[in-house]
Amino acid sequence: MKLQVFDNYDQVSRRAAEIVIEESRKHPQLVLGLATGSTPIGLYREMVQVYQRGQLDFSEATTFNLDEYYPITPDHPQSFRRFMQEHLFDHVNIAPERIHFLSGTAADVESECSRYEAAIEAAGGIDIQVLGIGENGHIGFNEPGTPFHLKTHKVALTENTIQANSRFFERIEDVPRHALTMGISSIMRSRKILLLASGEKKAEAIKAALQGPVTEELPASVLQLHPDVTVMVDKTAATQLEGVPYKA
Ligand code: GLP
Repeated sequence: MKLQVFDNYDQVSRRAAEIVIEESRKHPQLVLGLATGSTPIGLYREMVQVYQRGQLDFSEATTFNLDEYYPITPDHPQSFRRFMQEHLFDHVNIAPERIHFLSGTAADVESECSRYEAAIEAAGGIDIQVLGIGENGHIGFNEPGTPFHLKTHKVALTENTIQANSRFFERIEDVPRHALTMGISSIMRSRKILLLASGEKKAEAIKAALQGPVTEELPASVLQLHPDVTVMVDKTAATQLEGVPYKA
C-alpha cells in the first residue's frame, strides 16, 4: 500500500482528483467506482471545478457506486443516488446511461445484486475504485465480520454505522437498517484503489487497516492484499500510525 499523508482535507481531495483526472485523460473510457459519505465530497468538488474550466471530459466514462441503503427510493433526500447527483452527476457530462447504481427499491434483492456484478463485468471491470472508511473499518457497507469472498450483497447495518450516518437524517429511526453493497471480493477486483480518510475519528481504523492484521473483523485490512492501493489521509487521520512522518 502506498501511503500519502497531507496537511489537510483539501490537499487530500486535490491530489485524489488529480489522480482520477490524469487517468481519465489517458483513458477516456475510464470505469470509476465511486463512494459516498463526507470524505469524497472534496474530491467530487475538485472534479466538478476542473470540468467547469473545460479541462475534463467525462462523456465516455462509466461509474459504479459502491452501495445504497435498502430500502430507499432514488429521489429520497438521503439516498446515495441523490447524494451523487448533487455532488457530481448533475455538474459533469457523465452519460446517464453509464451511471450505475444499486437499486434501493429492488423487489428481488438477489437478482439485483447479480445484475450489478454482471454490469461491472460487462463494463470491463473497475479501473479506479474510490473508498472512504467507516470508523469501524468498514468499506462500502461491508461491516466487520463480512466474509472477504462475498460479492454484491444485502447487509444489516451495525448500530455503530446507523449512529454515524444518523447525522444526515432527521431522526435516527429514519436511517434504513439495511443496505446493498459491493462485496469485498467485488472491491478487490478493481485495478486501482484510492482509500481516502480525514479526521481523528478515522485514525484508529486507518491504523488497523494499514498496520494491523488482515482480518474480516476490520474489513479495510483486506486492502493490504491488493497490489495497487494508494491511501491518502490528512495528518489527523494519520496520528495513530507508527513510523510515519506527518508530512506529505
Ligand atoms: C458510509 C459509506 C461508506 C463510507 C463511510 C464513511 O456508511 N457506506 O462508503 O466510506 O460510511 O463515511 P464518511 O466519509 O462520511 O466518514
